[in-house]
Amino acid sequence: MVGTQWGDEGKGKFTDLLAGDASMVVRYQGGHNAGHTLVVDGESFALQLVPSGVLYPHVTPLIGNGVVVDPFVFLAEMTMLSERGVDTTRVKVSGNAHLILPYHQQLDALHERHLGAARLGTTKRGIGPAYADKSMRLGIRVQDMLDEKIFREKLRSALGHANKVLTKVFNRLPIDPDGLADRVLEECLPRIQLCIVDSVDEIHNALERGEQVLFEGAQATFLDLDHGTYPFVTSSNPTAGGACTGAGIGPRHVDRVIGIAKAYVTRVGAGPFPTELFDEVGDHLVDVGREYGTNTGRRRRPGWLDTVMLRHAVRLNSLTDVAITKLDILDQLDTVKLCTAYRIDGEEVRTLPYHQSLIHRAEPLYTELPGWKKDLSTVRSVEDLPANARTFLDVVAEQAGVPISLVSTGPGRKQYLEFS
Ligand code: IMP
Repeated sequence: MVGTQWGDEGKGKFTDLLAGDASMVVRYQGGHNAGHTLVVDGESFALQLVPSGVLYPHVTPLIGNGVVVDPFVFLAEMTMLSERGVDTTRVKVSGNAHLILPYHQQLDALHERHLGAARLGTTKRGIGPAYADKSMRLGIRVQDMLDEKIFREKLRSALGHANKVLTKVFNRLPIDPDGLADRVLEECLPRIQLCIVDSVDEIHNALERGEQVLFEGAQATFLDLDHGTYPFVTSSNPTAGGACTGAGIGPRHVDRVIGIAKAYVTRVGAGPFPTELFDEVGDHLVDVGREYGTNTGRRRRPGWLDTVMLRHAVRLNSLTDVAITKLDILDQLDTVKLCTAYRIDGEEVRTLPYHQSLIHRAEPLYTELPGWKKDLSTVRSVEDLPANARTFLDVVAEQAGVPISLVSTGPGRKQYLEFS
């Protein structure tokens, strides 16, 4: 399951729904920059790291090797879930996942401040610096915590580098490696070590037993390090291929790729956004859709649905079907628009240009449809959809070139429609 926009599509809701048929839900990239909200029986759970399937007693939630794990955040989330009566004993973490430690967060914030007006608008969770350390072979893996000598050595080596940057580039105080090692080993390790597994073995054992494994993408296609609007991207690969490297499966194991598309688009942080709205319709989408970050509280930038991007997401991820979220947020609008092409330098373009300067000056060409002006929150079957809402979905599917399989009409677990 992958996001087809810039994140915040409402992936958690459908992951939770589809987890009902899975034995395992695997996160394969990102870290606690993600924020998934699940609403079950009117109770809301905000998750950052633990996979969405945790609320089902039959699901094994697994944090894959491609994820970056802040052990303090992980511990806090596990404690929050346990205190609210959720069984966390099945949660597993790959020994090959990398750790986010406090210096990564400090460096993330300092880099952003250093960039000034050119900042990316990161979540300041240390995601970029942790993945940079992984690429520089300075990263510390979850399994390293299991050997105190190795852990302390690696932390000294990583901080040997990070402290130079903190002190000489940013004029900050150095971090004491042994003090940090003591904290991690005393506060986090006792609980985390119960969760550490050979994740590749766990996943393949489940597949060999014929069970369904759901790979839960965080962030989204256009925040992908390779395929997103670089540099306004995250530091991992949320696209479907990322599930293979971030979990340790080959592409032949993937038999369905569901793209999650919100009925409109939002983006947090900087970067190009052709269908961005700066008017009262945009404010309406933000207000009614409660478009403020689950984690950071930031107001999200709103815009109309962009099927040029959706078609590109179909290609990049081999989407088999699309699930539409938050259709109900459009309920009160007189007309709804969706972008079907761009006009760039006087020419009509239906595919996403690779040259980003063109995306910056792309003018969206819209199809405008009449609104349905009806409350969708209680609609439970496709047959009961107002005709105008059905038309909107039909046009989206036609433009995307793949069928729509699911539509969400409210935050609750039961507020959705399934197309047969
Ligand atoms: P980072 O992932 O914190 O490094 O942030 C890089 C970019 O990705 C920024 O524009 C963030 O706003 C965006 N981003 C990261 N995680 C999410 C998410 O879960 N939803 C939406 N945007 C995100």
